[in-house]
Amino acid sequence: MILLSIDTSCDDTALSILEKQRDNIKILFNFTLSQAKLHRSFGGVYPSLAKREHKKNLPLIFKNALKEAKILESDINKIAVTTGPGLSPCLWQGINFARSLKKDKYIVPINHIEAHILINLVQINGDKLYLLEQDKIFPAAALVVSGGHTEIIEVKKTGKYKEMGSTRDDAAGECFDKTARILGLPYPGGPEIEKLAKEAKSGDRKKFKIELPRPMIKSKNFDFSFSGLKTAVLYDWQKRSQKEKSSPRFKKAFAKEIQESVVDVLTEKTEKALAKKGSKSLLIGGGVAANNYFREKIKKEVKKEFPKISVLIPPKELCSDNALMIGVAAILSGLKKGKAEAFPN
Ligand code: KG4
Ligand code: ZN
Repeated sequence: MILLSIDTSCDDTALSILEKQRDNIKILFNFTLSQAKLHRSFGGVYPSLAKREHKKNLPLIFKNALKEAKILESDINKIAVTTGPGLSPCLWQGINFARSLKKDKYIVPINHIEAHILINLVQINGDKLYLLEQDKIFPAAALVVSGGHTEIIEVKKTGKYKEMGSTRDDAAGECFDKTARILGLPYPGGPEIEKLAKEAKSGDRKKFKIELPRPMIKSKNFDFSFSGLKTAVLYDWQKRSQKEKSSPRFKKAFAKEIQESVVDVLTEKTEKALAKKGSKSLLIGGGVAANNYFREKIKKEVKKEFPKISVLIPPKELCSDNALMIGVAAILSGLKKGKAEAFPN
């Protein structure tokens, strides 16, 4: 069985081809074309530009995919495509492309958030993909942290999800992007903040008196709020002297405090969720999960507080948007056909 998977939910055009013969799954192609550089001048994703780029690039990547996978278009048996959540014009590009290749009855609609979670259920070795034993993983708690989402979800098993909490305003990645912009850093801001934070000198935050809030960290629910943090960054930045603003040392210390503020809240809330539910594992996904400081901190804290719970985080390239996770989600949910229509939210 040959499965083509597509994700065009935001500003990445991603395609993968998997070959499945019973339990043997082989990755024949997996590629993500990032549009990040094109969106830089807008300081974030510009939907109509993203749509245009998906439209232009999908057929090109697809042609290349067939060549690299050494298959013909007619060899494709199923197409998994992200139908939501995401930017509506972008989602439709992927869906319409899938429809143009195969009739609706061969299309497997995939939820993007579910895919960010389920990619944790496989192990990859070269071009081989192995499904992990689900008994050891479920019930689980999941944390999805991306540019569009910050959610804690109770996962009873594949396909059985219950939202425990989510952001009331900005997503964690969006907070990184917006605060980075205040600091004059390019989009996407998360990796830029991480780079600077890594170079910060210990003691500099104290020296420059940088202290940001940890919004909702003590609240009893599992919700988040990051827009207040963005505002706090803006106000602090505005009151700084020109000398401080142009000091690389100051900027690094400031970036470190932003990163820690976001990560402290994510970690604390996730631990709270783990304490409430009897989870065997914590499944993490989304672009922000590529952040080294976050990866290390959440693993360390969970190990300390809940030594029996295993923390699963995908390799960095599979944290941000990709089509391999769409293929994996399709396989794990039984390759069920469904409505090839976008649901943006
Ligand atoms: O999952 P993703 O690729 O796309 C969405 O579905 O949104 O996530 C993109 C987000 C961006 O906000 C980006 O700044 C953030 O993930 N991100 C990071 C890092 N790498 C990407 N945030 C913090 N640290 C990183 N290293
Ligand atoms: Zn995503």
